[in-house]
Amino acid sequence: MCGIIAYIGNKPAHDILITGLHRLEYRGYDSAGLTVMDDKKIQTLRSVGKVANLRNKVEGEWKDNSKASLGIAHTRWATHGLPTEENAHPHTDMKGKISIVHNGIIENYKQLKSKLEAKGYKFHSETDSEVLCNLISEFYQGDIEEAVVQALKHVEGTYGLALVCSDEPDRLIAARKGSPIIIGIGNGETLVASDVSALVQYTKQVIYLDDNDIVCINREGITDIFDMTKTPVSRDVQEVDWDLGAAEKGGYDHYMLKEIFEQPEAITNTFRGRLNYEEGTAILSGLNLTPKEMVDINRVLVFACGTSLHAAMLGQYFFEDFAQLPSNVNHAAEFRYRNPIVERNTMAIAISQSGETADTLAAVREAQRKGANVFGVCNVVGSTIARETDRGVYLHAGPEISVASTKAFTTQVMVLLQMALKFGRCHRLSRSEGVKLCREIESTPELIREVLKEAENIKKIALKYKGFDNTFYIGRGYMYPVALEGALKLKEISYIHAEGYHAAELKHGPIALLEENVPVLALANDIDGKDKIIGNVEECKARKSPVILTATKGDDEMKSYSDDIIWIPKASAPVAAILTTVALQLYSYYIAVARECNVDQPRNLAKSVTVE
Ligand code: G6P
Repeated sequence: MCGIIAYIGNKPAHDILITGLHRLEYRGYDSAGLTVMDDKKIQTLRSVGKVANLRNKVEGEWKDNSKASLGIAHTRWATHGLPTEENAHPHTDMKGKISIVHNGIIENYKQLKSKLEAKGYKFHSETDSEVLCNLISEFYQGDIEEAVVQALKHVEGTYGLALVCSDEPDRLIAARKGSPIIIGIGNGETLVASDVSALVQYTKQVIYLDDNDIVCINREGITDIFDMTKTPVSRDVQEVDWDLGAAEKGGYDHYMLKEIFEQPEAITNTFRGRLNYEEGTAILSGLNLTPKEMVDINRVLVFACGTSLHAAMLGQYFFEDFAQLPSNVNHAAEFRYRNPIVERNTMAIAISQSGETADTLAAVREAQRKGANVFGVCNVVGSTIARETDRGVYLHAGPEISVASTKAFTTQVMVLLQMALKFGRCHRLSRSEGVKLCREIESTPELIREVLKEAENIKKIALKYKGFDNTFYIGRGYMYPVALEGALKLKEISYIHAEGYHAAELKHGPIALLEENVPVLALANDIDGKDKIIGNVEECKARKSPVILTATKGDDEMKSYSDDIIWIPKASAPVAAILTTVALQLYSYYIAVARECNVDQPRNLAKSVTVE
């Protein structure tokens, strides 16, 4: 998804901007560009494809001579118009004075464009952002901050933006509504970004803008932050708690592999200090609920997108099994359009790694409109969902850079398990059952390490199946969401068509597709549902599908049902779901590498989807 980095200070801006763009690459994009303010002149370069192309262009055209110390830059993920150089940001107004980078969508851009065209404005791109730039230009009468305020009053939609104006060559303006903007406060320099990862190399001191905030910055630092009525607002400076090392590959070939191998540590961080072994419960102070309030909650609504939705599905099982709480999982995108029923005493949970997914955020706001208490389960501290939800639990998984989500999923599952444990202890879960679950949670990191030791075996199996164009993943019970997540991972990074199905549903349609070129990956771990899935596996074999099983170590009879086996350590059902997911992540990873795919930045995908 689009990324913004901007700089004002005393160093050559283009260097810092290009480095910042590299840090934003993980979000997914298809073109990039930058503007520097060179002695009251706007200089812009843009290019299609990777930031490396832009870097070459900058080095070629400016020959490292640009000393400009103010600039804005952008990585674009196409929404309005193709990924072309003309559509890439920054956009400049017709008079060539204002240059802007913009994330988000201006919903009424067509109407605004027609009005501007009637006044003689000409456009060079198909983007809504160029319209916004010219709208600001239309209001410009010598004070850029005033022009921005006036223009934004006419805008419907979302924006995170940064801009410069050649008549005011020592000013940088940024604004936010519905798309994150963070200000990094350095020593004699100030940065603006859409994502903390672009800032940490330069500063740990940041300010998160709120919706409708506009910030004005000069070479001394921030001069004003105000809202749309020009009333000053004050925003706290916060300290970012990750460093650059945490956002780099750490010796692995890909971020995804690094993040898969980080899971024992990430999961430990998720439960460290949050379990009370004495009482057999979870602490989770971020929920901020008294036992009485917890008892009063009689229904759970969970919403999320993508991988987070699969974690939500496991959460539903946990809430029902451990807390006897009726639970519903919702596609966040659908929640708002379904006119959902939110009753008194419903707890809504929004799950999002990034905390910025537009559909999930829209669902949060809809649930809040309907009076629900909404809890956030997010990874990115200070993200919009984390801030807008009433209360919540952070994953503490550390930055997840690879577009395909791995450690965020397993830590989300872990947090949901702890939430179910805490609620369970207010309902029917006994102390000894609670203690048992605490011990299971605690054992997970070590068991994941055992799965990771199987990496070479999993790789061998992956290489055997890398050439097949279709794969089915089947599971039952806790293994059903895992099957969906396994299939999603394979699709995302290897571009193999993969479908996750409930094992029992296979015979209601997809079985028609089975033949010797369609392998089936059946999750046949030794937990509830295993006996039934063996029957489903037989059905697949009878159609000549090659069968790969995940099975519990020591369950040797499973060899007779399969062509290949991925062994998973013995564990309770919730933990087995996590362990099996890790094995399937490795399976997808090795296939994608063998097929020479861009593992960390798969085609067409974005890390954080901030459009509906
Ligand atoms: C994108 C990412 C997925 C992610 C989904 C939800 O599609 O590519 O990996 O699962 O968004 O993201 P969230 O940040 O809300 O968990």
